[in-house]
Amino acid sequence: MSSAVVLQTAATPASPALVLRPWRMADAAALVEASGDPATRQWASSVVDDEADGARWVQAQQRDWATGERFGFAVLEARPGPVCEQLVGSVVLKEVASGKPAAEVGYWTAAHARGRGVAPRALEALTNWAFDTFGADGLERLELLHQVDNLASCRVAQKSRYGFDTILPAAPPSFPRDGHLHIRRRTSD
Ligand SMILES: CC(C)(COP(=O)(O)OP(=O)(O)OC[C@H]1O[C@@H](n2cnc3c(N)ncnc32)[C@H](O)[C@@H]1OP(=O)(O)O)[C@@H](O)C(=O)NCCC(=O)NCCS
Repeated sequence: MSSAVVLQTAATPASPALVLRPWRMADAAALVEASGDPATRQWASSVVDDEADGARWVQAQQRDWATGERFGFAVLEARPGPVCEQLVGSVVLKEVASGKPAAEVGYWTAAHARGRGVAPRALEALTNWAFDTFGADGLERLELLHQVDNLASCRVAQKSRYGFDTILPAAPPSFPRDGHLHIRRRTSD
């Protein structure tokens, strides 16, 4: 898979257009800043502690793009002026394999950008790209998992048409509480 993939979403009255592209080394500092937020640390798996850690994490994302198992996108807001884009979030397609009917999605939004529909819009772009790209190779459904008390994530699932499927039992230490499995199927588009 080419790591030159760039996805875009239109601006809304509340929020600028979004650009989704594979992670770059230059994102490491903004990634560290976003990772300092307590909710991100609590709920997201992709947090880093310092710039060296961030650089290692970005390198791992780039390796994953090359092997074709996991596709992580930085989500950026397009801005006028000299700073033409700002990191506002992350979306990822993971557990991808040729002929496998299911893959998984994940996301977080930087604390300063929450409440403006960044995650649902980025997830919609990722979802369409995933089915367009891997549907012919057998991808039929995308799974979204969150812990039961992560209500904001549940809202993202609902708004992005990932229907509630089942309760998942807790699996500590990674998942100390029960979870929700939401699913979006290719055929339901
Ligand atoms: C869950 C998360 C990705 C939502 O991202 P977002 O871009 O703010 O998404 P939305 O703007 O659609 O808001 C979703 C819900 O967040 C809540 N919300 C709204 N404004 C918010 C704010 N300023 N701060 C925190 N939560 C807010 C609301 O419940 C909202 O639902 P509503 O639109 O029905 O009111 C974000 O809160 C986050 O990154 N949380 C920490 C990491 C995480 O939980 N990742 C998912 C793991 S499964």
